[in-house]
Amino acid sequence: MNSVRDAATADTNAAPTTVVLAGRVFVPPGDLETFIAEARTVYPVAAANPGNVLMSFSVEDAAAGIVTVLEKWTSQEALDRHVATPVVTALLTKWGPRIRNEVQRFDVLDPSGPGGQEQPGGALPPAMQMIQLLGGFQLAQALYVMAKLDIATRLDDGPRTVADLAAASGAQPEPLGRLIRSLATVGVFRHLPDGTVETTPLGATLSANRPDSARAAALYWMETHYLPFSDLLHNVRTGETAANHYYGEPFFDWIVKKPELVELQTSTMANVTGGLRAGMFDDYRLPAGAVVADIGGANGSVLVRFLAKEPDRRGIVFDLPEVVPGARRHIEEQGLADRVDVVAGDFFESVPPADVYVLAYVLHDWDDEKCRRILGSIEAAAKPGARLVIVEGLVPAGDEPHLTKMIDLIMLAMGGGKERSADEFEQLLSSAGFTLDRIVPTPTPFSFIEATVRP
Ligand SMILES: C[S@@+](CC[C@H](N)C(=O)[O-])C[C@H]1O[C@@H](n2cnc3c(N)ncnc32)[C@H](O)[C@@H]1O
Repeated sequence: MNSVRDAATADTNAAPTTVVLAGRVFVPPGDLETFIAEARTVYPVAAANPGNVLMSFSVEDAAAGIVTVLEKWTSQEALDRHVATPVVTALLTKWGPRIRNEVQRFDVLDPSGPGGQEQPGGALPPAMQMIQLLGGFQLAQALYVMAKLDIATRLDDGPRTVADLAAASGAQPEPLGRLIRSLATVGVFRHLPDGTVETTPLGATLSANRPDSARAAALYWMETHYLPFSDLLHNVRTGETAANHYYGEPFFDWIVKKPELVELQTSTMANVTGGLRAGMFDDYRLPAGAVVADIGGANGSVLVRFLAKEPDRRGIVFDLPEVVPGARRHIEEQGLADRVDVVAGDFFESVPPADVYVLAYVLHDWDDEKCRRILGSIEAAAKPGARLVIVEGLVPAGDEPHLTKMIDLIMLAMGGGKERSADEFEQLLSSAGFTLDRIVPTPTPFSFIEATVRP
């Protein structure tokens, strides 16, 4: 971990630092509600600070009093300004002694950050930064190997030796140790003085046993997206999606023939709901309406969040025939089978009637013309006065980092869709006969976009 001085006094020629604070705090369960309410009073304070990119306190496990904290700052200076505000100072003073804090700091592209090689004057030479960026393929593959061998899951109960991990996962200790050493430089693992290794809070997200697990995403991206990305150049030159060129057919047509990958895709989306979207549903209420249809709902993990606090509403999970068996299982496991119907179909053809439609991470998969066809199916089936709730990230103006700007490349390469700005959503909805009513931002990179069919 860097000292505050490194970034606060950064040379003006130094690479810009992005500071990420991530991890968990453990609160006495009886104090959890008060803690969360008070912690969230810092949202407006952070939002007023131009250096804040992301600020999120979400309850991970209410019974155990575990809160997940995620913050992203464009500079140490911005973070210092935040910590010095009276609201934050008072919170730290009050709660510091009562909580166990496992929030860690990570510096992204910081010359003195993990893996960096600090130069005199503090700057990482541009050529070194470029090599680090180009090395992204190594990092992605190394993380994939860790996920596939379940190394983080095997470290759930505490540190182990590399030899032990290798034996348990059917790997060779020497190369496994080298991967762990590389990943320790970017804050995924930590070597302990007794020769064992452990995961950091970042690395622990590769464990299968967490609501915010990223393990399925690691497997899904690397087993279905990584190779088609080698055709990105073709994509940019010709306009044909990389996945189409690589697989010889549209991505969703290809994947539905592989049940184990369909399952992985569904688990990935459920992990997105449990991880990246954690906290976004807490303070949001759906518009009124007796029946809520989650269109392209995968296993229904988004619908389950909505219905959990809406005992009087019924639900529908609608997805492709190959996907709905997983939804049926999940809805049954959640004890919602008596009020949620699982319906198979193609949203380009038709969708079931409902009062509220949810489209979560669906429109971003498709270009405007295909989105209008999906919206047209909803328009045709919607009950009078029906409302639409879109769950997507909104691309912000400017060059600051935002999840949407990287996910956008996946949309480009895999399906020909795109991440959209608020204006682009307004135009898309308007061209499909909908009126955008309001956008509800959340403490996550996602927003709720509410719309109505124009009479
Ligand atoms: C990115 S996932 C989003 C899943 C879920 N809504 C969420 O946000 O977690 C897109 C979903 O659209 C579904 N889908 C793709 N083409 C479809 C079609 N033609 N008709 C119905 N569902 C489709 C996929 O099977 C997948 O579950």
